[in-house]
Amino acid sequence: MAMWGGRFTEATLAEFRDFNDSLSFDYQLALQDIAASRAWAAGLLQAGIINQTEAQQLDAGLADLAIAIKADPKLPLQTQEEDIHSWVEAQLTTTLGNVAKKLHTGRSRNDLVATDLRLWTRLSSQQVRASLLGAIAALLAFAERAGSAVMPGFTHLQRAQPVLVAHWALAYVEMFKRDLGRLDDALKRLDVCPLGCGALAGTGVAIDRQLLAQQLGFAQAALNSLDAVSDRDYVVELSAAASLCMTHLSRLSEDVIFFCSGEAGFFKLGDAISSGSSLMPQKKNPDVFELLRGKTGRVLGHLVAILHVLKGLPLAYNKDMQEDKQGFFDLMASWQQSLRVLATVLPHLTVNEAQCRLAAELGYSNATDLADYLVAKGVAFRDAHELAGELVLAASAQQKPLEALTLAQFQQICPLITEVVFAALTIEAGLAKRQALGGTAPHQVAQAFIAAKQWLELQTKSS
Ligand code: ARG
Repeated sequence: MAMWGGRFTEATLAEFRDFNDSLSFDYQLALQDIAASRAWAAGLLQAGIINQTEAQQLDAGLADLAIAIKADPKLPLQTQEEDIHSWVEAQLTTTLGNVAKKLHTGRSRNDLVATDLRLWTRLSSQQVRASLLGAIAALLAFAERAGSAVMPGFTHLQRAQPVLVAHWALAYVEMFKRDLGRLDDALKRLDVCPLGCGALAGTGVAIDRQLLAQQLGFAQAALNSLDAVSDRDYVVELSAAASLCMTHLSRLSEDVIFFCSGEAGFFKLGDAISSGSSLMPQKKNPDVFELLRGKTGRVLGHLVAILHVLKGLPLAYNKDMQEDKQGFFDLMASWQQSLRVLATVLPHLTVNEAQCRLAAELGYSNATDLADYLVAKGVAFRDAHELAGELVLAASAQQKPLEALTLAQFQQICPLITEVVFAALTIEAGLAKRQALGGTAPHQVAQAFIAAKQWLELQTKSS
């Protein structure tokens, strides 16, 4: 039965109900609705609206309902109630009778749904947080396995300078660390309780809202009733955090897809995480990384959708806000699943060290090292750049790498060059030189790895 029948004389149309009702998706808030209702019942007792016996009845009835939901989370879908709030009340009325009709005193579905969704978001954010830490751990394990493997680093997708494969993996660790910071930051502002704000103007019940907030595990009660019932900032903030994190995941996927291609051949996908082609027998496709890239589009879409839902809304609650849920539920699920999948597939990704090294040796990615060698000889960098460029031109005319030029050929362009140039042009020399903080020198990468591992341990302990 609807919660608002009294002033209506006609039945509602089935098609209107289909469009209006939200039980088909907000049933996922059942446990949160029950938790909020238990706290509210305790508040009603304190305010003298219900007596001890009634409070106990309500609490026991709600506790039983929570057990039933845990056993069968889709239980509400067996009914035709309008939404999860109506469902909880209807169930209580069936089991407890008249006392259940007192539960909704002084509250509204507007403050209730705002509270339920915050409770749900807090819980699912904790799950995302754990999955994000899992993805970081998997990246660190990959970096460790990559050891001293070296590959070309790219700018403009042109081979630029050699980097350690581990340095590449640690770049994504940095991104995910920032994502975790954004998630935690959004959760600070989520930590506010709207319950007790009524429909929009505040509740008439003499309730201690700070105590109510505390009981539900919130840091404080929301300070303005109009804002409290219509604030969905946390949905936007988490959707934005998810969008950026997924964007990082998508860039990582794009890298991996290219690194696994026949053209690069740096990484190899294990059979357990690859798919084939129904037509071309030779194919082994990186579907999983393509899907991660694709899911990113879906998550970004949800962010844009919620911003559009909110942007034109007058204060306070409007039914448009019911549209906050489906996209957001999907966003949080897609985010968490994507992070979990990344952690699952990374152990099946291997590095083809020989191929990586070969590619790092080609493409004149040691040309900067040649310029730096000339700088060490006292040549100004701009001139050194010019000379190194001329040597690249000379070498490429002969279709040779720089180090295959003879000393005489080097000296023809710059007489200052000696035999030592060949040592300066090795990959090892180029890597070792980049030893300032944040560089790809093996020692720096090892330090960065240790720091990231320590950071992860600290995060895992504190969560
Ligand atoms: N199903 C609604 C939502 O998700 C609950 C609040 C309904 N409030 C109301 N006054 N119609 O937003």
